[in-house]
Order: sequence, then structure tokens, then C-alpha cells
Amino acid sequence: MFFLYVFWILIQSSIYVQGYNFPYEGIQLNDSDVRNYSRIAFGVSSTISSNPTNSTGCKVYPGDAQWPSISEWNKFNSTLGGVLIKGVPPARVCYQPGYDAAQCAVVTSNYYYSNFRNDDPVSIVNEWLDGDSCAPSTTSNATATNSTCNVGAYPAYVVNATTVKHIQMAVNFARNSNIRLIIKNTGHDMRGQSAGAGSLSIWTHHLKDFEYLPSYTIGDYQGKAARVAAGVESLELSAHMRAANSTIVVPGGGTVGSMGGFFQGGGHSSYTSYYGLGADQILAMEVVTADGRFVTADPNNNTDLFWALRGGGGGTYGVVTSAITKAYDAIPMGFSSVIFTTANLSKYVTTVSNETFWTGIRAYLKFGPQICDAGGIGYNFINHGPNGTLTFTTSITIPGMNFTEANDFASGLFTELNDVGVNITNPFATPVSASEVSRLVAAAYPSRGPGEMNTRLASRLFPRENFEDDDLLDDTLGVIRTFVEEGGYTFHGVNHCPTMEVAGNPDNAVNPAYRRAAMHAQGWNSGPAVGPIEVQKKDYERFSRYFQPWRDVSPEAGSYMGEADAAEPEWQQSFYGDNYEKLLGIKQTYDPWGLFWVNTGVGSEGWEVKTPVAGWPTQNGPLCRTNATVRG
Ligand SMILES: Cc1cc2nc3c(=O)[nH]c(=O)nc-3n(C[C@H](O)[C@H](O)[C@H](O)COP(=O)(O)OP(=O)(O)OC[C@H]3O[C@@H](n4cnc5c(N)ncnc54)[C@H](O)[C@@H]3O)c2cc1C
Ligand SMILES: *[C@@H]1O[C@H](CO)[C@@H](O)[C@H](O)[C@H]1NC(C)=O
Ligand SMILES: *[C@@H]1O[C@H](CO)[C@@H](O)[C@H](O)[C@H]1NC(C)=O
Ligand SMILES: *[C@@H]1O[C@H](CO)[C@@H](O)[C@H](O)[C@H]1NC(C)=O
Ligand SMILES: *[C@@H]1O[C@H](CO)[C@@H](O)[C@H](O)[C@H]1NC(C)=O
Ligand SMILES: *[C@@H]1O[C@H](CO)[C@@H](O)[C@H](O)[C@H]1NC(C)=O
Ligand SMILES: *[C@@H]1O[C@H](CO)[C@@H](O)[C@H](O)[C@H]1NC(C)=O
Ligand SMILES: *[C@@H]1O[C@H](CO)[C@@H](O)[C@H](O)[C@H]1NC(C)=O
Ligand SMILES: *[C@@H]1O[C@H](CO)[C@@H](O)[C@H](O)[C@H]1NC(C)=O
Ligand SMILES: *[C@@H]1O[C@H](CO)[C@@H](O)[C@H](O)[C@H]1NC(C)=O
Ligand SMILES: *[C@@H]1O[C@H](CO)[C@@H](O)[C@H](O)[C@H]1NC(C)=O
Ligand SMILES: *[C@@H]1O[C@H](CO)[C@@H](O)[C@H](O)[C@H]1NC(C)=O
Ligand SMILES: *[C@@H]1O[C@H](CO)[C@@H](O)[C@H](O)[C@H]1NC(C)=O
Repeated sequence: MFFLYVFWILIQSSIYVQGYNFPYEGIQLNDSDVRNYSRIAFGVSSTISSNPTNSTGCKVYPGDAQWPSISEWNKFNSTLGGVLIKGVPPARVCYQPGYDAAQCAVVTSNYYYSNFRNDDPVSIVNEWLDGDSCAPSTTSNATATNSTCNVGAYPAYVVNATTVKHIQMAVNFARNSNIRLIIKNTGHDMRGQSAGAGSLSIWTHHLKDFEYLPSYTIGDYQGKAARVAAGVESLELSAHMRAANSTIVVPGGGTVGSMGGFFQGGGHSSYTSYYGLGADQILAMEVVTADGRFVTADPNNNTDLFWALRGGGGGTYGVVTSAITKAYDAIPMGFSSVIFTTANLSKYVTTVSNETFWTGIRAYLKFGPQICDAGGIGYNFINHGPNGTLTFTTSITIPGMNFTEANDFASGLFTELNDVGVNITNPFATPVSASEVSRLVAAAYPSRGPGEMNTRLASRLFPRENFEDDDLLDDTLGVIRTFVEEGGYTFHGVNHCPTMEVAGNPDNAVNPAYRRAAMHAQGWNSGPAVGPIEVQKKDYERFSRYFQPWRDVSPEAGSYMGEADAAEPEWQQSFYGDNYEKLLGIKQTYDPWGLFWVNTGVGSEGWEVKTPVAGWPTQNGPLCRTNATVRG
């Protein structure tokens, strides 16, 4: 009995001193593994002797003399246990030589679904960032239409990671070979961060482990939590939590990763005004750093890294292999919605004149901060219909409210709308069943399918005063109206407020502008994402001209990097605000090699992608040093 007890203690303590979350993190690269293979040796920052570039100041690129030979890639692959994949665009099968009608048909019919791109080792959701690369042909034989399949910004090779050792080897191989390194989780990023021509990619998609922790203590936190592997997607995490009768902060898009770019860049959800952002939930994480070592970042270990990884941007400081995140009791979710239009849609939808439409929008925007104060979010669109018509929709969800409470709350909004001539009644004035509410919520948040796919967008974190000050509200409404009416673009607003107070006063790297915001507002341009770059570029320039007034009407604000313009001007201030210099210091401490590089990431001004068309923010070209002094 005594021995059993001692044995039990040993097992418990060995679990404790392991210092990681999952068995795949126990499979690590050791000093002995690298002794006879210098390309995968660990980095020692004190011995950095040369500029980690080729002689012309670029990362080594396919075709360069220093690019590893096929036999070196083969050696790397066999040392990895065969998980190396060659980077081939999925639509390659639609082109000659090698055209395959059956496979091409499969790619073509699935291409516009984000789960297809998640499951593909190289695809990204916003394909225009690859450059005019390799679209599947809708005419079934791309050669007949003269298009070509360019490898574009797809990576050269991919490590299909299922252990920490795979990730450490990829980090060391890329660093020692001076090759560009990227990380692809789901590829949902909108700034081209999960693409990169001539790169080695770490694909985290197959890291799916999960463990619910009914009671967990770390730092000041005591409560429910969960261990979550880097590749777990939003829908998967929600399903795990439902099974545990708990809730957790997850992205609204079901195929978005929960543990990659989402929380590392901020991360908003249905609970943003109630529990704060994704970054505010993270209690601890496991990370492979640029030297190839595996470390813990939590309130006691590597605290500066812990701070930076919660909101300071993905793909910049290291590869997160798993994290521990807060969980909560399941609570009701109150729901209401508004729709009005200038079209004749149906007898159930209120039709208004153009002027009343915009007066109604004004009333809604003014009401917005009250949604925040109730702990809820408003998720809205101004969409274009036929003949110049416009339709406004918003779904309001409020955690912690039951149906009656939510509809009592929303009645204030319906009164405001009625007062300005929008003749609308609360559609849920009479209670509906709980299952009907879940159906409505689900319908309001479509989770699979095209979604924001290929949308080129720009966004602004409008501060509270833009809605509370009447003059500023008029100006804000004015720029939105011109953007929609004259520009012809779509408006997508999310009313929510992740204030320090609702987030529990966390000390992390979330963009300070987000704490002051009452709306994350996006302008969507569904211009061409494939085809001649000059056409795409002209289209983007027009869009940018219509978007700029949003920035001008909120000069002290910023932008949420997770859904943002790939060519955001003054991005250091927009995405990071006053945290930028501190983040840069942490970046330089953990990654003096400049190994982790992403467009608009901290420290990225030291490098640029030499694209075939200058000034076009794709990832299609070698990554080279600039003369820019890195701000700091
Ligand atoms: C349809 C759709 C819906 C969305 N809905 C929401 C939403 O509701 N709320 C919200 O906040 N955002 C939302 N987003 C934006 C989303 O959060 C970002 O696109 C985010 O960057 C996606 O992260 P990912 O890891 O899934 O994607 P990826 O494109 O694979 O990675 C994004 C970035 O994170 C880095 N990264 C990924 N994994 C790791 C890792 N393990 N360690 C270190 N760095 C890593 C990559 O290097 C890259 O820089 C949505 C996007 C889309 C396309
Ligand atoms: C983290 O810090 C704690 C407290 O200092 C220490 O006990 C623990 O061993 C550290 N864990 C790791 C994985 O370094
Ligand atoms: C360095 O990289 C650049 C860009 O890829 C390339 O043009 C050049 O030839 C390379 N130089 C060497 C010596 O490999
Ligand atoms: C890596 O090895 C595996 C197993 O031998 C093989 O299937 C795969 O094609 C190889 N990858 C590359 C890029 O050669
Ligand atoms: C595709 O186009 C090529 C070149 O025009 C042609 O040779 C080939 O027969 C076509 N294949 C099919 C299936 O249409
Ligand atoms: C293909 O390109 C050639 C040369 O640019 C051009 O003459 C021809 O008309 C093109 N064919 C199609 C189908 O676009
Ligand atoms: C990646 O690895 C996973 C897990 O081993 C495997 O199921 C999957 O088929 C691999 N994908 C590719 C494209 O090799
Ligand atoms: C789920 O949790 C809630 C508390 O948040 C509790 O009221 C409810 O009974 C639980 N349901 C089940 C099936 O355990
Ligand atoms: C657009 O306007 C035209 C002319 O007034 C009309 O015939 C047509 O039905 C309208 N289309 C729609 C979809 O309302
Ligand atoms: C309403 O505005 C649209 C532009 O958004 C315009 O096309 C349309 O003609 C206007 N309708 C009226 C009746 O003024
Ligand atoms: C909602 O909560 C209120 C208390 O705030 C309660 O009086 C009411 O009965 C509840 N309604 C429903 C439908 O559960
Ligand atoms: C408002 O709509 C209701 C029906 O939904 C209708 O009975 C009423 O006349 C309308 N009021 C105005 C001022 O248009
Ligand atoms: C950097 O400066 C050198 C010398 O002034 C110049 O020749 C070169 O073109 C510059 N490179 C970039 C990327 O600006």
C-alpha cells in the first residue's frame, strides 16, 4: 500500500514536472539528436556572427546557390520521419502538364469552402495574397483559357507537424539554412501571414488534442479551464466545451483556429463585452522559440514572452504548441435582431426611404454603446441589393440574459428606430422556444462556407466617443454612408467593448485602441482576387481612397489586426499602439535572427517581400532586408 502510494506520488509529480500539456509535446528534439546534423542544431543567440541572409541581403530562395539540394531535403524528410510535404498548389491538377479532369473537378467544387483550405497543407483563405498564382478553372481546363499555374506565394515545403520535435526541427532547419519560415494553422489570415514564397511552412492543423480542467489554479486564477492544442478550430473547441457543459471564448467563424492568430492578435467572440478578448483568456502556453528550444510562457516563466503572445501578433515570437485557457459555466444567451431595407423584400421586412434608412442607421449607431454596457455584441451589415437598394441587418446577442430580458433590453432600440420613422416592431416580442433561439443565433453566425473568403478589407476600432458625441457621430455616419453609397462597398460592424474592466484588468499586449473601442468596423471590398494584378491593384487603390476617411474620423484610434488591411498605413500605431516599442524589445530578445517574419508583424519593417508588382502586398517573392531603421 505504501509503495503504491509512493508510486502514485511519483506519477503525479512526473506529470507535474513534465511542464507541458499533451503527450505530443513530450516528443522533443535533444542535443544528442543534432550532434551529427548541423542543419537542425539549436541556435545560440550570443554567437550570431553573420547577417542571416544570402550575400544580397535576402533569405535564401529556390534557385539560389545556397538553396538546399534535393538530397538535403530528403535527409531532412527522413530525419523528420517522412512528414515533409512539397508545396504544390491544390489546383495544379487543373493545369498542363498533368491535367487531371477528375481531380480538378474535386478541387474546383470544394475550392470556395474554408474547410477545404484548412485541410490543404498550403492553401490560404484569402488567395489574392498568394499573387496571381493557381486558381482552379471553372471551365474545367485551364490551359484552354491561357492561364498558368504559378507556385506564387505557396511555401516550397511543409512540415506536417504532429510532435514538438517536428516543429523544433523545422525552426532549426530554416534558421540554419537562412530560409524563410512561416506558420500555417488554418490559413485564415487576411494579411498574407500564413503564406510565403520560397518558405518552409510549419503546419499545425493536425495538433487536435483537448483536455477539460474542471478546476485549475495558476497566478491569480482559480476556476475552470481547458488545455487546447494549437490546431483546434472554433467549431471543434465549442463541441468539446458543450460536452463539458461549459463555455469558452472561440472565434465566430467555425473554421478559424482558436489557438493561433486568433488570440495572439486579440480575438473577438460573442463574449467580448462580457469576458474580454481571446488574449485575455490565456493562462499559460507552450512555445518553440526561434533558437529551437521548447519553453513555457506563463505568469511564472518567460513572462515577457507570455505578455507579448497575448495580443502582440501571431507568427512573430515563436510557435505556440498548446495553451491553457479559461472556461466558464454555461449561461443563457439572449437574442434580438433588426432588419430594415430600402428595397421591397417581403411584407415582413420594413421598407424605408433612402434618407430614413440612414437616419435609422444613425439611431442604431448611437444605441451601440448600450449593447456593450449590457455585456452584449451587435453583429451587423449594410448590404447592397438590386437597383441601388440597401439592407441593414443586425443580430444582438447578450450573454447572461434570458429571452425576456434580451427583448426588454432591445425594446429601447426599437423605440429609437420608431422615433426616427423606421416603422419596425420587435420581431421577438412574444417568447420563442430555446431551440428556436439557438437556431436564430446559428443562422446569424454562419460557421462554414465562404464567409470572409477572398474579401479584401480594412477595419477601424471606432472609439466610444464616435457614437456618443453627436457631431462626431454625424461625421462617422457620413464617412460610412459615402463608402457604402458612392463607393458601393459593404459595411460590417461589430458593436462590442473589451474594456480592461470586463477583461479583469489583464496585463497583456492587446492593442490599447481595442480597450477604448465601441465598434470593430470593417469595410469589405469584393473586387477581383484573381486575374491580372494591375486590375486588382487599381481596384484596391479605389477601395483605399474610400476607406481612408474612416481613419481620418478616428485619428487616435487603431485597427484590429485579425481582420485588417494587408497594407494598413502606419501599421505599427494602428495594430499595436503604445505597446510597439516594448514588443519590439521582446521580439529582438527572443528572435535576434529575424526568423519569424510576417507582414505587419512586430519588427517586420526590417524586411520586405520583393513582389513582381511593386507596392502590391502579396507574399509572392523573396524576403529581403530593407534599409529601414527598425522603429524602437
Ligand atoms: C471566415 C473568418 C471568420 C473570422 N472570424 C473571426 C472572429 O470571429 N473573431 C476574430 O477575432 N477573428 C476572426 N477572424 C480573423 C482570424 O482571427 C484571423 O484570421 C487569425 O489570424 C486566424 O488565425 P489562424 O491561426 O486560424 O490562421 P493562420 O492564417 O493559419 O495564422 C494566422 C497568423 O497566426 C500565426 N500563427 C498561427 N498559428 C500559430 C502558432 N501556433 N504559433 C504562433 N503563431 C501562429 C501565423 O503565423 C499567422 O501570422 C476570422 C477570419 C475569417 C477568414
Ligand atoms: C515555471 O516557474 C515555476 C515557478 O518559478 C517553476 O516551479 C516551474 O518549474 C517552471 N516551469 C517550467 C516549465 O519552467
Ligand atoms: C540572393 O537572393 C536574391 C533574391 O532571391 C537573388 O536574386 C540572388 O541571386 C541571391 N544571391 C545569391 C548569391 O544566392
Ligand atoms: C517524405 O517522405 C515520405 C515517406 O517516405 C514521402 O511519402 C514524401 O513524399 C517525402 N516528402 C518529400 C517532400 O519528398
Ligand atoms: C485541355 O486543353 C489542352 C490544350 O488546349 C488540350 O490539349 C486538352 O485536350 C484539353 N483537355 C480537355 C479535357 O479538355
Ligand atoms: C492565349 O494567348 C495568346 C497569346 O497571348 C493569344 O493570342 C490567344 O488569343 C489567347 N487565347 C485565349 C483563349 O485567351
Ligand atoms: C498530415 O499528418 C496527418 C497526421 O499524421 C495525416 O493524417 C495527414 O494525412 C497528413 N497530411 C498530408 C497532406 O500528408
Ligand atoms: C450545466 O451547467 C449549468 C450551470 O452553468 C447547470 O445549471 C446545468 O444543470 C448543467 N447541466 C448539466 C446537464 O449538467
Ligand atoms: C429594378 O428596377 C427595374 C426598373 O424599375 C424593375 O423592373 C426591376 O424589377 C427591379 N429589380 C428588382 C430586383 O427589384
Ligand atoms: C437611393 O440611393 C441609391 C444609392 O445608394 C440610389 O441609387 C437611388 O436612386 C436612391 N433612390 C432614391 C429614390 O433616391
Ligand atoms: C427571465 O429572467 C427574469 C428575471 O430577470 C424572470 O423574471 C423571467 O421569468 C425569466 N424569463 C424566462 C423566459 O425565463
Ligand atoms: C407601421 O406598420 C404597421 C404594420 O406593420 C402599419 O399598420 C402602420 O400603418 C405603419 N405605420 C406607418 C406610420 O407607416
Ligand atoms: C539601400 O541603400 C543602398 C545604398 O544607399 C541602395 O543602393 C539600395 O537600393 C537600398 N535598398 C533598399 C531596399 O532600399
